[in-house]
Amino acid sequence: MHMDGTDPRLRFTRIPPARRIGSLLDDVRHGLLQPPRRLPAKYFYDERGAQLFEDICATEDYYPSRCEAQLLADHGQALMQAMDARHLVELGSGSSRKTRHLLQFAQPGTVYWPFDVSEHMLRESAAGLVAQWPELQVHGLVGDYHAGLDLPIPDAGRRSVLFLGGTLGNFRPDQAETFLREIRGLLRAGDTLLLGADRVKSTAVLERAYDDRDGVTAAFNLNVLRVLNRELDADFDLAGFRHRAVYNTEAQRIEMYLEAIQDQAVWIGRLDQRLHLSRGERIRTELSHKYSEASLLRLLEPAGFRIEQLLTTPAPTAYSLVLARASD
Ligand code: SAH
Ligand code: TRP
Repeated sequence: MHMDGTDPRLRFTRIPPARRIGSLLDDVRHGLLQPPRRLPAKYFYDERGAQLFEDICATEDYYPSRCEAQLLADHGQALMQAMDARHLVELGSGSSRKTRHLLQFAQPGTVYWPFDVSEHMLRESAAGLVAQWPELQVHGLVGDYHAGLDLPIPDAGRRSVLFLGGTLGNFRPDQAETFLREIRGLLRAGDTLLLGADRVKSTAVLERAYDDRDGVTAAFNLNVLRVLNRELDADFDLAGFRHRAVYNTEAQRIEMYLEAIQDQAVWIGRLDQRLHLSRGERIRTELSHKYSEASLLRLLEPAGFRIEQLLTTPAPTAYSLVLARASD
């Protein structure tokens, strides 16, 4: 379905799910009503959530965004040369702010395809990009990338997929592998993937990044309850929960929870059901896996990629950009 406006350089398409995915109602019924309680992360990103994520990226403690921006600023031109792409597809593009370090080097005729579930953010950032660069075409894709990557990209021209922000880390390892294969399916041999990946490091630095001193991450995590209240006619009391970010050293991942501060009952109108939580009980809202050079290789190679460049910021806030090329 096309949702075209008047500027021919700016188009939007809604990507219908290629396979069946659960609705919010299904996800809450299956994930929240009985332990282990969890919620899919895509529900964070309503209009307020998308803005709160931007605010997280501006905090001192959330180093991944700053480090990734630095790598893109330092290597943007060389990366764009190496990718040599006519079509730049960005998954989970958000505000596309860091991508500007690449887009400024785009050749005339380049098409940028930002793909995001957050339509408001997508429209706003896409409009800003065509306003700034008269030669750039932007074709926004609105949808859920968990529902498939069947995207309307023309056959002609080299492609590059950008997957920044460490977002691959938000997938479980088995999902990450499957998703990388799906990305490989969008590409032909010689095409590229530019992947942002946060690195394994000290628990203190990691936990601070996911529980910043300004309380923005806490507000972001709690916002998902506001989404449930609105969409499901529920009555979560945000003051009844606290944000928790715990680094699991064995699984090499940050685990994000909302923890009940006291025993409580929450009414979920659309399910006509009450949810009982006892003090200390947790709802898992996000995972963020951290990688080593070895684990990146283990993930990318079987999916059909060869690592061509590994750019990493210095300790204690190591963060990597991986330029991977689709193998034959
Ligand atoms: N790439 C940006 C934003 C990262 S935040 C950056 O590095 O700063 C993750 C982004 O992915 C958000 O914009 C969110 O709306 C989007 N997102 C989350 N789940 C998604 C899904 N299932 N399908 C499509 N986009 C998703
Ligand atoms: N892709 C980001 C990451 O894992 C998402 C993120 C950052 C996030 N901070 C968060 C998700 C806090 C939930 C809560 O780094």
